[in-house]
Amino acid sequence: MKVEANKRNALGTMPKLAVTVRDKDGRDNALIVGYCGHCSYDPPMIMVGLVPSRFSYHMIKENGSFVAHLLDESQADLYECCGSESGKDGDKLKAHNVNLIDADIVNAAIMKDCPVAIECTVVDSIMTGSHEMFVGKIEKVHVEEGATDDNNCVDLSKLNII
Ligand SMILES: Cc1cc2nc3c(=O)[nH]c(=O)nc-3n(C[C@H](O)[C@H](O)[C@H](O)COP(=O)(O)O)c2cc1C
Repeated sequence: MKVEANKRNALGTMPKLAVTVRDKDGRDNALIVGYCGHCSYDPPMIMVGLVPSRFSYHMIKENGSFVAHLLDESQADLYECCGSESGKDGDKLKAHNVNLIDADIVNAAIMKDCPVAIECTVVDSIMTGSHEMFVGKIEKVHVEEGATDDNNCVDLSKLNII
């Protein structure tokens, strides 16, 4: 027998991406994004959803780039800091000594210790309701050595992702 359930989160668990963005003055920030997913196979694209009240929102709007990271289970602190603190209150990445390097192609930072980092250029966006979904063309995928399959695709079974 089926009963009617809440319409929210009907698909169940959401992935958890840590998304880095950079403003026009070069300041980096990051937030956790659950509203995200693949949205094109060819060309390869993913989308990330940001609520306009997030500090990161103006940054992704300003420079049209982001890097989406998968976090290792050991990175609970980073997950906590990115998902609960706001860049409005200070530089959380500096405060937590997050290792950043410039992305190779897009204008945003890579969090060096994350097992997967996906560089994206924003090619479109749509305000769906609570979130604006930013469609990112994948420019480059960085993955921990050894964590790929025979097609050189990221193999999550070889990683311990949050
Ligand atoms: C599991 C989880 C999922 C989240 N998903 C989203 C999301 O999809 N979009 C969003 O804008 N915020 C999401 N958040 C909230 C932001 O990560 C959080 O408000 C963050 O502190 C915003 O940082 P900022 O203000 O520096 O941008 C999520 C938080 C958690 C813990």
